[in-house]
Amino acid sequence: MVSFHHLIFCLLGSVLVSQIGCDGKVMMEYIGATGAPVKFDSVPIDDGLDFNFILGFAIDADASGNPQNGVFSPYWESTLTPDSVASIKQKHPNVKVLASLSGWSLGPNVLRWYDPEDAATWISNAFSSLQSLATTYHLDGIDIDYENFPKHGNTSFAYCIGELIALLKNQSVICTATIAPYHLTTGPYIELFNGYKDVIDYVNHQFYTDKVSTPKGYLEAFQLRASQFDKDKLLPSYEVNGRGIQGDAFFEALNLLQENGFEISGIMIFSADESLSDGFLYERKSQQFLLNTTSV
Ligand SMILES: *[C@@H]1O[C@H](CO)[C@@H](O)[C@H](O)[C@H]1NC(C)=O
Ligand SMILES: *[C@@H]1O[C@H](CO)[C@@H](O)[C@H](O)[C@H]1NC(C)=O
Ligand SMILES: *[C@@H]1O[C@H](CO)[C@@H](O)[C@H](O)[C@H]1NC(C)=O
Repeated sequence: MVSFHHLIFCLLGSVLVSQIGCDGKVMMEYIGATGAPVKFDSVPIDDGLDFNFILGFAIDADASGNPQNGVFSPYWESTLTPDSVASIKQKHPNVKVLASLSGWSLGPNVLRWYDPEDAATWISNAFSSLQSLATTYHLDGIDIDYENFPKHGNTSFAYCIGELIALLKNQSVICTATIAPYHLTTGPYIELFNGYKDVIDYVNHQFYTDKVSTPKGYLEAFQLRASQFDKDKLLPSYEVNGRGIQGDAFFEALNLLQENGFEISGIMIFSADESLSDGFLYERKSQQFLLNTTSV
């Protein structure tokens, strides 16, 4: 069923964003995955950017981690209610909210891509459950964050997820779709991207898993991922208090990327939960960086 309301919203959203002249710069912020009582209102949002919150996570599993054949349920922090999504979007028309699919685990239960017995049924269940989540939570998009795959490599992941995104988009349930490979999962994500790049807006590659801590190392990792995906859709990323490059070296790396001809169209940060304790320093600096480079 086509949601007329959503269609209008999607269109209005892009008109608004182009009117405020955000120049296509986007901030991606994961939120709600770790159990910290984080709220949208705590996060500094600059209205000159397209600001995407990515809710972690919606999962195709029950509370014990058993697969549900494509029926997704929300497992993000309960402070992130439907009303709070509506409220942050009303305060900041440049905000979009995405649900990320899967993540690493639910508590001790590792979540995996499993090849469903019947792909069509899985896609249909996923479409209906995500449509319902999108309506309830006022969502604008989905992010794909499956992190564990069958060893044999030949899986239906690219087909099922690609068709799902295409359907959610052409039925105007969502406007935005992103993918989040990490260093061990680029294979299935490259297959997905090659088949469905037209409906994938950004690649939130988890550079912090590439184990580089210097600007030069970051540049080399970026060059590699840019050759595997599309350099214009690839976003540099940062893990707060996490792995990989830390502190000001991250911004030195961004400058180095620019000096080497990469345009930085956005930045992904994992995550707001961790930033609660440092006053969102890296969110502020990242948005400042993106705005600094917007006008040149
Ligand atoms: C991969 O799996 C599909 C579906 O099960 C099958 O049709 C195809 O032959 C397989 N390809 C290879 C190379 O094993
Ligand atoms: C929407 O996308 C699905 C999945 O790719 C496809 O089967 C269907 O034909 C598309 N419908 C339209 C109207 O484009
Ligand atoms: C942004 O530009 C200002 C003025 O040039 C500079 O002081 C500041 O360090 C820059 N911030 C970032 C994060 O690049």
